[in-house]
Amino acid sequence: TAEREALKARIRTLLRERDAVMVSHYYVHPDLQDLAEETGGIVSDSLEMARFGRDHPARTLVVSGVRFMGETAKILSPDKTVLMPDLDATCSLDVGCPPDDFAAFRTQHPDRTVVVYANTSAAVKAQADWVVTSSCALDIVRALKDAGHKILWAPDKHLGGYIQRETGADMVLWKGSCVVHDEFKAFELEALRREYPEAKVLVHPESPAAVVAQADVVGSTSQILQAAATLDAKVFIVATDNGMMHKLRQRHPDKLFLEAPTAGSSATCKSCAHCPWMAMNGLRGVLQVLETGLNEVHVDPALIPRARLPIERMLAFTA
Ligand code: 13P
Ligand code: SF4
Repeated sequence: TAEREALKARIRTLLRERDAVMVSHYYVHPDLQDLAEETGGIVSDSLEMARFGRDHPARTLVVSGVRFMGETAKILSPDKTVLMPDLDATCSLDVGCPPDDFAAFRTQHPDRTVVVYANTSAAVKAQADWVVTSSCALDIVRALKDAGHKILWAPDKHLGGYIQRETGADMVLWKGSCVVHDEFKAFELEALRREYPEAKVLVHPESPAAVVAQADVVGSTSQILQAAATLDAKVFIVATDNGMMHKLRQRHPDKLFLEAPTAGSSATCKSCAHCPWMAMNGLRGVLQVLETGLNEVHVDPALIPRARLPIERMLAFTA
C-alpha cells in the first residue's frame, strides 16, 4: 500500500541520516527482512546477526528480532547505539532461565563446562564458558567432548537432547523450550509425509525429538535456507517459525514449501507456528525508534566484558 511505501521511504532516509543499519531475523515481518537487505543490512540467523552487528561500521544498529539479539549486539559493540522496535519482545527460553536459578544450577555441577544457547539474557551469558547458536552448537559441543569436557547445557532441552544424541557427550540439561517449536507434532508430520512422499523435511533443532527424527536436514534458520537451495527436491516440509517461509518462497518460487503441522493446525490455520515476540516487530516501530532514539537496548556495563568472552569464543570458532 501507499502508506507502507511511505513508511519505508522515510526509514531509508533516516537510516542514512543516522548512520544506522538494519539487522533482521528471518522470523520478523517480510517488510523488515526485505528492507534490511535493500538498505545494506542483513537478514539472517542469530549467529550471523551477531557477527554482522559487530563488524559493520554503522554507529547505530536497528535490530528486528527479540531481546537477546539486541543484547548480543550491544555486548559485542558497547559503543554503538542498539535500537529495537519493541523492547518487550522476549523469548520463552530467555524467560524460562532466570540468572539466579541458573547460578544455583551451575553450583550443583562445578565440574562441567557451561554451554549456553544464545537465546538467554546477558546475565546468563555472563556465567557461560561458551555461547552457541543452533548453527554451531553441534560442532562446538563435539569439539568440547573430544577435548574431554563434560557439559552443562541451557536452556533448550530439545536442542540439548539432539546434541547429546548426535555427539554422545556427557550433558546435563536445563529443561527450557521454545513455545513455537515445542508445538510441532510428530504424528501429524508423519501423515503429511505420507501425503507428500517426495518431500524433504527441514527441521529446526528446537523441535521435539520425534519431529527431529523425521528430518532430512536439521539446522538453524540459515541452514534450512541453505538446504532448500542445495537439496535436489521440489517439495519441502518445514518445521520452524513460519516467518521463514517468506525467504524460502522468495528465493525458490519454483519449489513448494509446506508448514509442518502444529497443535493449532486446522482447516483454517494449517500451522499456527509464529513467535508472538517476533511478531511485535513492524515498520512503524522501526520508524519510531529512528525518529526518537527511544527503545535503546542497555546492558549492565558490569556484565559486558564477562558476557562478551563466550560470544567472541563462538564467533572465533565459526569464523
Ligand atoms: P536461529 O539461530 O536458527 O536463527 O534461531 C533463533 C531462534 O530464535 C529460533 O527460534
Ligand atoms: Fe524464542 Fe522460540 Fe521465539 Fe525463537 S521462536 S525467539 S526460540 S520463543
